[in-house]
Parts: sequence; structure tokens; C-alpha cells
Amino acid sequence: MKIHLQKPEDIRSQIWKELGRASLDRHHEWRTPVLASADADGLPDARTVVLRQVDALAGQLTFYTDSRSPKAAQLQAKASAMLVFWSARLSWQLRVRVACSVITSGPEVDTLWQGVKHLAAAGDYLAPLPPGTVLSPGSGMADADKANEPAPTHSFSLLRAQVQRMDWLELSREGHRRAQLSANDWVWLTP
Ligand SMILES: Cc1cc2nc3c(=O)[nH]c(=O)nc-3n(C[C@H](O)[C@H](O)[C@H](O)COP(=O)(O)O)c2cc1C
Repeated sequence: MKIHLQKPEDIRSQIWKELGRASLDRHHEWRTPVLASADADGLPDARTVVLRQVDALAGQLTFYTDSRSPKAAQLQAKASAMLVFWSARLSWQLRVRVACSVITSGPEVDTLWQGVKHLAAAGDYLAPLPPGTVLSPGSGMADADKANEPAPTHSFSLLRAQVQRMDWLELSREGHRRAQLSANDWVWLTP
């Protein structure tokens, strides 16, 4: 059943509730948003990421990544990025303008790494070759094998996205609705 909330404060709190659920439920459609950033030439780049933590009070969304990945370099050079979420269940699209920081070390990274390092996914952060490394022709398999040998140190890091503003779009037979919201503001827009 679709929710049809009327009041901006109810919609806002439901958005954060759904984001929180998505960080805990691997089947939630908002679990895997697209993160778009700008590359070194200012050209658009985008990829799917997994939403890991949500702090509604602080307005922060957290993801895990490899500190050696192109996206980490892009966001370190230019923090501004967009996250795009779509849920067919809710009929809600959420586009979120964020400022990202890449956290590569410190107690928070250490604690989370303790939980991740035993999982199959830990291999990604221990691979000796950075993500996106070109495998040389002919020796592709050898390079690929090498890429699977664990490195002595991990490159597990956190991507912390500080929400600046959101664009919420609800598709509905009764009429689409759209609004732009920031921490203290709510503006209805034509869809
Ligand atoms: C379903 C799915 C979830 C993914 N989750 C993450 C993630 O949480 N963090 C991440 O760094 N890459 C994730 N990836 C891989 C990225 O989409 C991307 O291919 C990789 O990180 C390299 O991106 P970059 O070259 O822009 O840095 C995921 C890919 C898929 C298909």
C-alpha cells in the first residue's frame, strides 16, 4: 500500500525513516543508490554504492569504499556529489546533493574494519591492485590472480556524505508531487 503523506514534516521524517531502513535491510530499494561525482576533467562519473549508515540528526549518509578507488580521489578533489535513490514500492525518487569526505583512518575505520575483515567482502579492500587497474593484455589472468592475493594492509575506508539538500519526487496517478528540501526549508516544485 502506498503512503500518501500530506504535511512536509511528515514526508521529511518518512524520507529519513526509509533511508534508515535501507541501511539495515539489504532488500530495501534505497539500499543501493547511484553516487555521481565529477572526475578530474569535470566530466560526470557515477556508480552504485551500498548505503551502510544513516544519521538523520546529523544529516549524514555513510558508505564503505576502497581509499584507492577513482571515486575516492574524485571526492577528495571535489567533495560535491549527488546520490540518486529510486523505490518502486514508494514511487519515490530522491536526489540528494551531498558534500563527501573520505575517512581513511582513525578509530571509526578501525572498529568497522574489525567487523568487515572476516567477511568475503574484505578481499576487495586487501587486493594489491587498486580498483580500476588496467590488466595487461595476454597476462590478464596472471594479473587477475595477483589482484586476488591479499595485501598486507587494507584500504577499507568510509565515505561520509553530508546532506545539503534533497529533491523528492513522488509519482502518482492522482498527480505527481515534487519538493526541494534542506535542513530548514521546504519548497514545493512542479514535477
Ligand atoms: C550492487 C553494487 C553495490 C556496490 N557497492 C559498492 C560500495 O558500497 N562501495 C564501493 O566502493 N563500490 C561499490 N560497488 C562498485 C562500484 O559501483 C564501482 O564499480 C567501483 O567502486 C569502482 O568505482 P570508481 O571507479 O568510480 O571508484 C558496487 C557495485 C554494485 C553493482
